[in-house]
Amino acid sequence: MSAQFPAARPRRLRRTPALRRLVAETRLAPADLVLPVFVKEGIAEPQPVASMPGVFQHTRDSLRKAAHEAAEAGVGGLILFGIPAEKDAAGSAADDPDGIVQLALRDLSSDLGDATVIMTDLCLDEYTDHGHCGLLTPSGEIDNDATLERYASIALAQAEAGAAVVGPSGMMDGQVAAIREALDGAGYSGTAILGYSVKYASAYYGPFREAAECAPQFGDRSTHQQDPANADESLREVFLDLDEGADMVMVKPAGAYLDIVRRVRDAVDVPVVAYQVSGEYAMIEAAAEKGWIDRDRTIMESLLSIRRAGADITLTYWATEVARRL
Ligand code: PBG
Repeated sequence: MSAQFPAARPRRLRRTPALRRLVAETRLAPADLVLPVFVKEGIAEPQPVASMPGVFQHTRDSLRKAAHEAAEAGVGGLILFGIPAEKDAAGSAADDPDGIVQLALRDLSSDLGDATVIMTDLCLDEYTDHGHCGLLTPSGEIDNDATLERYASIALAQAEAGAAVVGPSGMMDGQVAAIREALDGAGYSGTAILGYSVKYASAYYGPFREAAECAPQFGDRSTHQQDPANADESLREVFLDLDEGADMVMVKPAGAYLDIVRRVRDAVDVPVVAYQVSGEYAMIEAAAEKGWIDRDRTIMESLLSIRRAGADITLTYWATEVARRL
């Protein structure tokens, strides 16, 4: 080897855009993106979410339009979050056959057919007046096992209204098994379960709580969501959900937990889903608005990194925009 010249030149394959495209290991595709959407009961016009520029609480009609646009852009799925007009301690609107999510599910199933996969978030926090993900005991603790019965009932209401996939996000022990049993018992053996298996007690959910109007009125979610300090228990949660019948598993948030996405990807043989949450969206939008980062490049880099870490499917509030760009 001549001392004058480097023997290896990795730069050769980076020389032109065509070369870089040819050797790229990771690619994004519209079909792997899922758009989270909010639908609110009793509003006449869509309401902008201040901390998430470009995101709205939809009316039934504006949701139909947004869903149509997403499907047309090739987005792989939508996940619905409902905000009821009335909340109570049991979250009764969650499994009301005429509750807002059930009405929206019927709209979207008839509009879209099989053009995109219609999924639901399955939890109580948007529906309870106290903002917690479950029923409370008289002393204000979450009653895990009583909550499972509520989740089972919500799963049936959502499946009956047309959800192809339900996504339990409350982090109650045994929630996937309770939902699977209820669905199978009622003839919905074809309804899939996306486990929010790995869900951290994260500050990155801040803007979502404005969008879904579900901030807990007291306390927080750290008795059921995972401690950001821990990684090993993520695999335990994933394997429990798979044993209980989950068809896909999710890691949430995504960007600050890419190590977990990779560990889960290496450990399972089902689709791995990552949720780029509201705070991840808000941080990029806010910094871009100040002119401190290049918005479009940062969005693409954030999504590429989630995919590179091992996510097969990514939930992102930019799904429609990015699908159009791809
Ligand atoms: C619970 C739920 C939350 C999010 C999705 N499902 C909030 C929470 O657990 O506090 C957060 C999503 C986001 O921040 O984008 N129903």
